[in-house]
Amino acid sequence: MNFEERLNADIAEIEEILKRYLPKEEGCAKTVAEAANYSVLAGGKRLRPMLLLECCRLFGGRTELAAPFMAAIEFIHTYSLVHDDLPCMDNDEYRRGRKTTHAVYGEGMAVLAGDALLNLAFETAASAFTLAEKEEELRRAARAMQILSAKSGIGGMIGGQCADTEAEEFPPERVTKELLLYIHENKTAAMIESPMMIGALLAGAPEEKLAALERIGSRIGLAFQIRDDILDLTSSLEELGKQTGSDLKNHKVTYVSLNGMEQSEKDVRRLSEEALLELKGLTEERNEFLERLVEDLITRKK
Ligand code: IPE
Ligand code: IPE
Ligand code: MG
Ligand code: MG
Ligand code: MG
Repeated sequence: MNFEERLNADIAEIEEILKRYLPKEEGCAKTVAEAANYSVLAGGKRLRPMLLLECCRLFGGRTELAAPFMAAIEFIHTYSLVHDDLPCMDNDEYRRGRKTTHAVYGEGMAVLAGDALLNLAFETAASAFTLAEKEEELRRAARAMQILSAKSGIGGMIGGQCADTEAEEFPPERVTKELLLYIHENKTAAMIESPMMIGALLAGAPEEKLAALERIGSRIGLAFQIRDDILDLTSSLEELGKQTGSDLKNHKVTYVSLNGMEQSEKDVRRLSEEALLELKGLTEERNEFLERLVEDLITRKK
């Protein structure tokens, strides 16, 4: 399989797994189920479940055990986008090439769809316990649940979104490079670190490899958010599938506004190359697909 074929095969597998765990649209809670499904099934790159799957493969793991966590991380990511787009947050009208959830279902239902996806994520992840074939796998699944929740909580994504939201009201000089780094590390990189760590953990990777993947994920995540800040200024709704100019509209201090375009592009490359170097030395048998996936993020257009 060449790179494109493997990418398409991974996406097809991820879509199938997501559908397996999504709620049925029936009964009195039909609308919130529809809104949750609308948000998840709009597509997106599926980067986080793909990183989880490929890090599991990197360590020769049993991917059946990874499937519930692949769905869970994408559900949490999608809920974070649904809430991020709300009028009380970034107030955006387009996501993944279509109208945002609140634009279609109303604000109340978008809040609930986000809440529902967050709960569904942990319900789904917990189903890994029934798939475990030995006690060691039960222990790994329990640890994976801890990483999943910690990295998406106050010490991770929500912490980053908190600082990001507050910083909108700060005078520009208060948004220092250190603060912006905290924001990017938490709102975005934490959600790249966790799938990489969880994939490897479920495959039985030792502690020092998990620590290495946390460092690698951090660099990939920072580069990913810098690139997101660049694309917000340089891309278009048609290409990106979400509204550009959102950061300017919300008076956000971004990596580009602090460091300039040229430095931002250099830093995306530097961080990604550092990540790649460590990734290539991590295991004897390499995962060249995963390496190419990371490399392509440097110049990603969406
Ligand atoms: C968007 O994430 C939010 C950020 C952390 C920048 P993605 O760019 O991965 O969005 P989807 O999942 O492909 O829609
Ligand atoms: C949000 O960052 C990251 C999340 C945790 C949702 P952005 O606000 O820059 O993401 P986009 O540009 O709306 O996707
Ligand atoms: Mg935001
Ligand atoms: Mg946003
Ligand atoms: Mg953005």
